[in-house]
Amino acid sequence: NLSGLDLRAEIERLRKERNAVILAHYYQRPELQDLADFVGDSLELSRKAAETDADVIAFCGVKFMAETAKILSPEKIVVLPDMEAGCSLEDSCPPEKFAAFRAAHPDHIALTYINCSTEVKALSDIIVTSSSAETILQQIPADQKIIFGPDRHLGGYLSRKFNREMLLWPGVCIVHEAFSETELLKLKAQHPDAPIAAHPECPPHIVNHADYVGSTSGILNYAKAMAGQTLIVATEPHIIHQMQLALPDKTFIGAPGADGNCNCNICPYMALNTMEKLYVALRDLEPRIEIDEQLRLDAKKSLDRMLDMAS
Ligand code: 13P
Ligand code: SF4
Repeated sequence: NLSGLDLRAEIERLRKERNAVILAHYYQRPELQDLADFVGDSLELSRKAAETDADVIAFCGVKFMAETAKILSPEKIVVLPDMEAGCSLEDSCPPEKFAAFRAAHPDHIALTYINCSTEVKALSDIIVTSSSAETILQQIPADQKIIFGPDRHLGGYLSRKFNREMLLWPGVCIVHEAFSETELLKLKAQHPDAPIAAHPECPPHIVNHADYVGSTSGILNYAKAMAGQTLIVATEPHIIHQMQLALPDKTFIGAPGADGNCNCNICPYMALNTMEKLYVALRDLEPRIEIDEQLRLDAKKSLDRMLDMAS
């Protein structure tokens, strides 16, 4: 029973005792973002995990992110407050099916979004995040055939932007898939001067209306640079917490789902992590990410290529 505990103070104490670093993604609850040592997008969080000299990484994010941290920092203890924090993109791409797809297209390389399992990373040539995908794609020779998975919307966006054909795996993010074009246009009609910033995991009927398309950090930087007063944000709404901290006088409106508000776009996996579970994870050093060493080395190759090519 944790009811009498000052969780913030206990987490502070354990962070020091364990020599732990707390990393959080922008889609985490505000209270977790506030106590993290670092908040960032998927690429920045991977870099932090690779660099840290802490003994323990407490990862407030989803499982593929914590696994990435373990792949890059195998000597560290990596804990994830809730092991059920998965991702619909990872679920859409079982390794055996991905292996069969690759085998059916032997002349293609696999350029793979980081939102996938360690097994799928091990079956891939180069990993990308939403912030590094464009730079990396531009370094791949034009005649090289490409399989892109598991997010067909990010793949489709890159394919249209660079006029480059790719074989797309049919996965989607259930969060970004849920934005409604009709409701977005209604909102835009109420705020005609507000630009729209969208994540490339959104389907084309959303990104086509966007003034800016980019990763969570990209969207945050766009908000910081914008001249106007109001921004419509088409990604998971917890990122608005960082925008409001940085720009308290501006207005940020989460893009709506079919019900007309942005609450249906909260990521159910990210939301599983709580202060209570973070406290328990630091106290018990469980649940802990463990990866078979050969699998880790195989997955690390495609991640290292990303880190080299992302500049
Ligand atoms: P980025 O923070 O890299 O843009 O990733 C978004 C996302 O959906 C993470 O699950
Ligand atoms: Fe996966 Fe989408 Fe949640 Fe990110 S927001 S973890 S892509 S389900």
